[in-house]
Amino acid sequence: MTKITFENEKVIEEDNLDQSLLEISLKHGISHMHVCGGHARCSTCRVIICDGLENLQPKNKLEQTLADKKGLEDNIRLACQTRVKGPVSLRRLVLDDRDADLAIADELQQTTGREHAVAILFSDIRGFTRFSERHLPYDIIHILNRYFQEMGEVVLANHGYIDKYIGDGLMALFGVDEQQPSSNCRHAITAAMQMQQALERVNDYLKQNFNERFEIGIGIHFGEVVLGKIGHRDKAQFTAIGDAVNLASRIEGETKMIDSSILVSECMYAHIKDQVHIGQTLKTQLKGKSGDYLLYEVLELTST
Ligand code: FES
Repeated sequence: MTKITFENEKVIEEDNLDQSLLEISLKHGISHMHVCGGHARCSTCRVIICDGLENLQPKNKLEQTLADKKGLEDNIRLACQTRVKGPVSLRRLVLDDRDADLAIADELQQTTGREHAVAILFSDIRGFTRFSERHLPYDIIHILNRYFQEMGEVVLANHGYIDKYIGDGLMALFGVDEQQPSSNCRHAITAAMQMQQALERVNDYLKQNFNERFEIGIGIHFGEVVLGKIGHRDKAQFTAIGDAVNLASRIEGETKMIDSSILVSECMYAHIKDQVHIGQTLKTQLKGKSGDYLLYEVLELTST
């Protein structure tokens, strides 16, 4: 048994030290903030080590990357990445939503622009305008939130970043923190597949309660973007801009034209072609773009 003291909260006796500190605290009923779901992206799980720093495993790569980005001192650790090997005393640093906003916002590098290659995913609900005309405002907002919750979980579970919502559309990025094109693209296409599965859960609810069902189209492109925080300082948002973003959006628009669920660009396909089965191949012009673009309909993953 190892004693883990959450100061001002609880003293825990734990024998399974294979778990992260976050898993241990949640298991013992502590409302430990973890906005990114434990993926070393938000730092809201941060704790300050008051005693027993030597009883922690060293930072892994993910933790070191985020700690460097946010300028965290050595005695501040990410609970979602940290494992203990002996008694330790600590204190949670993010206690409410306002703390979380500050923790997420206080990034050193993301406030200035940087070029980065990412997989950009756009999704959209087909016929949502007609749906919204048939239902009450309360129901529209409720359904959208339920839908975005399901889709957002999938994005986060696949190491993605939820960039924004555009009406009933969603934009997500894969590879914001780590430049590994193959795995970034793999995560993006896996998320797209799982979003289609998650949609079935939403549709079960919709069928039962509204006698409706949604269909979605997803477009994905891999390319260079500029990442940074943009907007009024009271409402600045970390996002991606650039031609690659527009292209991903246009590809999503093409899914309606050929009644396809998932379409990817040639560049995206080059990174995943050994891992997917494709259906239609489409050579087309895209709105606002010159020349022809080759797009691939992805039907399924060949392996998990
Ligand atoms: S939960 Fe987000 S960094 Fe730990």
